[in-house]
This record gives sequence, C-alpha cells and structure tokens, in this order.
Amino acid sequence: MDSLPEMRVGAGPVAWSPASWRSCPIRQVPTYPDASRLASMEARLARFPPLVFAGEARRLRASLAQAAEGRAFVLQGGDCAESFGDFTANIIRDSFRVLLQMAVVLTFGGALPVVKLGRMAGQFAKPRSSDTETIGGVSLPSYRGDIVNGPDFSPEARIPDPARMEFGYFQSAGTLNLLRAFASGGYADLHQVHQWNLSFVEHSPLADRYRDLASRIDETLNFMGACGMTSQSTPQIRETEFYTSHEALLLPYEQALTRVDSTSGDHYACSAHFLWIGDRTRQLDGAHVEFMRGVKNPIGLKAGPSMEIDDLLRLIERLDPANEAGRLTLIARMGADKVADKLPALLRATKREGRHVVWLCDPMHGNTISTAGKIKTRRFDSIMSEVKSFFDCHEAEGTIAGGVHVEMTGQDVTECVGGAREISETDLASRYETFCDPRLNAEQSLELAFLIAEELKARRVHR
Ligand code: PEP
Ligand code: CO
Repeated sequence: MDSLPEMRVGAGPVAWSPASWRSCPIRQVPTYPDASRLASMEARLARFPPLVFAGEARRLRASLAQAAEGRAFVLQGGDCAESFGDFTANIIRDSFRVLLQMAVVLTFGGALPVVKLGRMAGQFAKPRSSDTETIGGVSLPSYRGDIVNGPDFSPEARIPDPARMEFGYFQSAGTLNLLRAFASGGYADLHQVHQWNLSFVEHSPLADRYRDLASRIDETLNFMGACGMTSQSTPQIRETEFYTSHEALLLPYEQALTRVDSTSGDHYACSAHFLWIGDRTRQLDGAHVEFMRGVKNPIGLKAGPSMEIDDLLRLIERLDPANEAGRLTLIARMGADKVADKLPALLRATKREGRHVVWLCDPMHGNTISTAGKIKTRRFDSIMSEVKSFFDCHEAEGTIAGGVHVEMTGQDVTECVGGAREISETDLASRYETFCDPRLNAEQSLELAFLIAEELKARRVHR
C-alpha cells in the first residue's frame, strides 16, 4: 500500500465499538417518529438470542478463503427483498431447492465445491434512490423494506415502525430454522436430486438437461454406494452447508444483534453469517463502513461503476487490514455495458496489492431497465453477458472469478425478460410479484447455472 501510507495502521478514525457508527455520517436512514420506541426495541433485541453462532461464521470465512484461491465457487442468491407476507414453508423450500439445483449444476461443471449463501432469513432492508415516492401528485416516504415500513402507498404504512424489527427477527429465526432442517435433515441428500425439480421446470426446455445431469449424479452415487460411501456413512452426501446473508443497512438492528464471541472475545454480527455493504452506503468514513469494520464475520462490499481504484483500496484497507483470505468479498455490479471498461483496473489493483479478496459477479443491479410501460425489469441476455465478461476480465487479468450473486426466487414469476421460455415485456404483468427488484424465476436461475457451469468447465480445461 505504498500509495496510501496514512492507511498503514488500518484503524479507522475512532475506536471501534458496536455503537461507534453513531458518530459517523449516515445515509439511507429511516426517520422514526418516536426515538424512545426505537431505543426500547433496540434494548429488547439486544437481549434476544443470536440467530447465528460465531463458529459458523468462521467456517464460512474458511470456505470463502477457498473461493479466493479458486478452490471453491460461491453461489449467493435469493430475493431482492424478503417480505413479511411471503413467510411460508413453500416459498422458503422453493428458493432453497433452486439454489441446490444450481449448486449441483455448478459443482458438476466446475468440479469445485459450491459455497451456498442465501439472500434469505434477514434480507429485509432496502436502500432507495429517493427518500420519497410520488404517485398522482401525492408524495409519501419511500418503502424501505418490511423491516422498516410497509409497501402500501398510504401515509400510515410508510411510517417507519420499530416493531417491525421484532417481526423481522422472528421471521429470520423461523426461516433459518427451516433452512437448517432442509440442509441437514435429509432434504438436501444428493439422492434427492431428481425430486428437487420443480413441476413447472419439468415442462421447460431445460428439463432434459437437468434430468440428464441428475441421472449422471445418480449413477455416480450408485458407484460410490457400491464402494461403501452411502448417505449413512458419508455426511457430505446426506447434508449440505447453507449460510445466510443480507445487506447490513439497518444499523440499529445490526448493532442490537451484535454479540461478543466467548471463545475469541471478538464481536460478531449475529443476524446472519455474512453481511454486505451496499453500493449506496460504502462511503469510507460513513456509518456503514464503520460498523462493518469491527465485526469479524466474513463481509461483502458492492462495487458499482462509480467505484474508483483509490476508493476501493482504501475501503479494503479499512475493512480487512489484516488481509485475511475469506474476510472480504467484493461484489462487482457494473452492468453488462460497463463491466469490461470498469472491472479490469480494479482487478489489477487488488492483485498488485496482494489482496486476498473473493470477487463475485452481481449481474443484476447494473442491468435494471424500465419498459415502455414503466415496469422495472432485467434482460436475461444482459445478465448472462455481464457474467461472461466477468469471467473474461478475470482470465485476462490472471485473477479468480470467485462466484455469482443473483436475485432469484423458486417461484414461477415473470419479472426478468428472456431466458429459455422467452418471457416478453408483455408477459411481465402476469406474475410480477417482487417487492423491489425483478428476480430470475426458477427456470431462468437454472438456465443461468448451466451457462455459468459451461464457463467454469471451459476454464477448467485451461487450468
Ligand atoms: C441489492 O443487492 O439489493 C442492492 C440494493 O444492491 P446495490 O447496493 O448493489 O445497489
Ligand atoms: Co436488489
């Protein structure tokens, strides 16, 4: 870091504590009308049990360290915004199973373990480009995610309500409980790979491809079984590791769920295994960076097209002064038309500085467009094109494409255009259900996984 000598010590401007972010400038903060209700909710949450355990976060960090070296591939995915109304077993199961399907496709293509990270069990708070929303001449505070206020366009719904944090906590606990049960209770057993197929995907152009892959996995499992490696004897066949993540946006909530790990004395944000800093709240001296520098979880940092090289290096130094592999994941979200222009210089800089970061591609947030009818959507082709360019940039720079970060759902929605079923702009209205950004549906997610698997396979041949 010769160019940035003042950053050598790695410490921020103030001594870190779970509350030190409060003296920093903050963006994207809801205005709660009653400060004392907010404070009593924070005190209440601070007494609740943690949702995750520090040891799990450390295990995830070790897996991410493998991805930093190209020995694993990260699949991070889920809703743009989880909703209190969509809190059902089927919705959780369907997202989980599409992630499992995608993971087996990627594992097969890349011959690499896949680190599975849901944007689930806590992805409730949303940054907004404007503090207000205006419809028909009426302006109200913007919807900031179910953990802050309600999506209905009414003055009552849009008032930030601290009680929503408690509901968010319990929904996260319920979701996490089911995810843990699925991951280790038999649902994720590789012998179920045929059953994970969703009925509507079975009638899709991708069905044969998936069935073919599932049959090859079956055959391999039969062979392994004959050699004595069964679900009973080999937990890796029977169970999977599945981690949770969300954007660390609502800092009162994140602080209230921060705990000291008794084994190490370190602070961990215990609302999820992995938290990330969004592209709108990544100011070096801002509150979000301040909070995140002090928790020991593996963390992410979004990098959009406005990220400059010096900013990135300063942020890396602030967030990961010890240069620990697995601590910091950089999530590039440039847009298909900008990635080849913007990403290589950032890759080069991290490589030159010897930074052990994981690079993920978020091909969603740089590719959001509005249709003529003003519906927010994303083209499957742009998403794929950004992923391909991401791989090309890494290949050219000699760096590692560590994984992908996608907004997807297990439901049969029509939110992104294109894909094997060629969803058109006029189809969007039929099942457009997202509370925020448009997601890939189950079939489009699987298609993306097949395309990424091809990229991984092609590059495996070169390794
Ligand atoms: C998101 O991941 O939902 C998001 C808001 O992304 P970004 O911060 O990259 O815009
Ligand atoms: Co989003």
